[in-house]
Amino acid sequence: MISLWFLMWVCFNSIHAQQFYDFTPCSSPTNNNGTRYTCNSFQKSCHTFLVYRANQQSQTISNIARLFIASPDELIFLNNLTSASEILKPGREVLIPINCSCTGKFYQANITYLVSETTTSFADIACGVFEGLIKSITLAEQNPSHDNDPKVGSVLHVPLKCACPDNFTVKYLVTYPFIEGDETNEVGLKFEIPTVDIWEANHLDPGPTVYPNTTVLVPVKGKLVINLDIPVSDPPIPGFLPTTAVKQPEKTTQLKKLFIVGSILGISLVLVALSACGLYVKELNKWKAARIQSSTRRSSLTSCSTPRSRSSTNSCLSPDLLIGIKYSLCNYSTEEIRRATKDFGKDTKISGFVYKGVVDNVNVMIKQLRLKDTKLIIDLHSKINHVNIVKLLGACYGESNFLSSYLVFEFPANGCLRDGLTNPSFSLRWHRRTQIAFDIATGLHYLHYFMVPPYTHMSINSRNIFLTPNWRAKLAVFGTTPMVGSSKENGDVISLPRGGWVAPESLESGLASEKVDIFAFGVVLLELISAREDIDGKLFRESIRFLGGGASDGGCFEQLRNFMDPSLKEDYPLAEALCLAVLAKACVEDDPMHRPSVDDIMKVLARMV
Ligand SMILES: *[C@@H]1O[C@H](CO)[C@@H](O)[C@H](O)[C@H]1NC(C)=O
Ligand SMILES: *[C@@H]1O[C@H](CO)[C@@H](O)[C@H](O)[C@H]1NC(C)=O
Ligand SMILES: *[C@@H]1O[C@H](CO)[C@@H](O)[C@H](O)[C@H]1NC(C)=O
Ligand SMILES: *[C@@H]1O[C@H](CO)[C@@H](O)[C@H](O)[C@H]1NC(C)=O
Ligand SMILES: *[C@@H]1O[C@H](CO)[C@@H](O)[C@H](O)[C@H]1NC(C)=O
Ligand SMILES: *[C@@H]1O[C@H](CO)[C@@H](O)[C@H](O)[C@H]1NC(C)=O
Repeated sequence: MISLWFLMWVCFNSIHAQQFYDFTPCSSPTNNNGTRYTCNSFQKSCHTFLVYRANQQSQTISNIARLFIASPDELIFLNNLTSASEILKPGREVLIPINCSCTGKFYQANITYLVSETTTSFADIACGVFEGLIKSITLAEQNPSHDNDPKVGSVLHVPLKCACPDNFTVKYLVTYPFIEGDETNEVGLKFEIPTVDIWEANHLDPGPTVYPNTTVLVPVKGKLVINLDIPVSDPPIPGFLPTTAVKQPEKTTQLKKLFIVGSILGISLVLVALSACGLYVKELNKWKAARIQSSTRRSSLTSCSTPRSRSSTNSCLSPDLLIGIKYSLCNYSTEEIRRATKDFGKDTKISGFVYKGVVDNVNVMIKQLRLKDTKLIIDLHSKINHVNIVKLLGACYGESNFLSSYLVFEFPANGCLRDGLTNPSFSLRWHRRTQIAFDIATGLHYLHYFMVPPYTHMSINSRNIFLTPNWRAKLAVFGTTPMVGSSKENGDVISLPRGGWVAPESLESGLASEKVDIFAFGVVLLELISAREDIDGKLFRESIRFLGGGASDGGCFEQLRNFMDPSLKEDYPLAEALCLAVLAKACVEDDPMHRPSVDDIMKVLARMV
């Protein structure tokens, strides 16, 4: 049992990154993990930096230096400026050197502040003057003699948020305050470090939503630079992106996660797990930064923005349906759709009511559906903006309600995952497969956690997952929940060749649940590992039994090797394969309660890509 825990510990470990991200804004009267950064045993104090933005009150280096009790000359040198009296553009980021040290449980950089007349409350000082570099609750706690609001002329003790690295690889952990519109990938670009490093250092899940008036730690390994030419992302469109609403993602404790997953596993795994973990630890070191390509995200919209002039006779898009949509959809005519799909020719059919075609030299997927369903799907996609989810490009409304409307989606060039796994010319190498698994999990995570209300996909399978030319995966969200076992003629579903292996509870109740998605994700993982497709639901059940306890006949590794896709030619780390198989097994547990959450899944996968 001990070694089992060890496997889970290795899979789920977050031993290095010990600082958390506090999702609540500076003024929030709560103490959370990340409200202050906790001391580690590696370093009690260090010299580090924080980022401050020039503003109305502190427009020059001399003002800023006075505020932080720093040397103006040092600031000038550090920030490539020439004069202490130069007026800085509001928002210009300035690096401030600080001495960070441990006082009790937390790191802090002590400075003092003389309360002036323009500021009246702790919140004004913490969130306004210091831009969230300290939370107002901390300021209040550290100055107990000032009951409610500090008096003008009094001197406050200001322990700014800071942290010291817990190992030699990181040189500085720079405290960076977020403002509206900031995203972790832009911060990564600014500091010329991989975005994943930021996620890691702050215990953030990949592709996190971050909030204004909070801070993150930026782990700088090499030279400290701050590239001021990186533009912040477009301001968010109110109502669609959860940038200001403070929703606290559910934070179960590590231990609880360990327990859940631990309980899933069979005891017989002990020996295998032990040796696998040895190998796996080595793999950990090969962890490399995979940037989420924000560039992909941007360019994928441009295909739609080519100016088009369309005849209004058959023009199908009624403007009221688009109210609130944040990107413009293209407006296609029925003729165009027919031309694109060669009159819905057989060889353009992808599956069910989905066809592929070319419109204006862009490869697209076209889904045929009822008029009333188009609105639902457009509404849904107006809330989705994620690189791992296939984009909706446009629509065409038909006259009648009977399957005469169309939605046009981007078509990632390498086609669907199912074909990718069977096409011998594709040779999906192992690292591509783990990346694909990670991409799908990221898309799913977005749907489950960042959509309001949360969206359950309910038809995840290898034919609904598409691959881009650089082998990143995108999940297609074609809309409404399919009824299991039916390929209804009404176009509700991207109907599949039936069969396949679906979550048992969805067969019984048909109810949508995140755990149904997790089950389906587990099946996709097994397909990624073995390249096989489970037509009747027996194949995988038999094949992975060895993970659960039936390991007596033949070694575990032997059976795992037999299960693996032969085209991988042993060119994969066995430990990772085992980890993935164990994960897949947990996902396809009969009891939904025993399946991991997509959070847990990402923690495992993030270690492999
Ligand atoms: C903060 O983290 C610790 C240890 O990781 C955990 O035990 C505790 O529950 C967390 N507290 C909150 C409020 O999340
Ligand atoms: C940090 O400490 C060093 C010596 O310990 C001191 O010379 C320096 O002025 C301090 N820097 C700040 C910003 O307080
Ligand atoms: C910072 O202030 C605290 C009081 O809150 C004090 O205990 C600590 O010694 C100070 N640290 C430094 C390095 O001056
Ligand atoms: C962030 O803090 C500033 C300054 O206190 C305040 O004006 C702004 O409303 C805050 N924004 C949010 C989203 O809390
Ligand atoms: C070093 O520390 C950083 C931040 O605390 C963490 O992200 C990283 O994984 C650690 N690296 C090692 C090798 O421990
Ligand atoms: C200042 O400019 C130099 C040379 O242009 C550059 O190497 C350095 O990174 C810059 N410093 C910062 C903090 O951006």
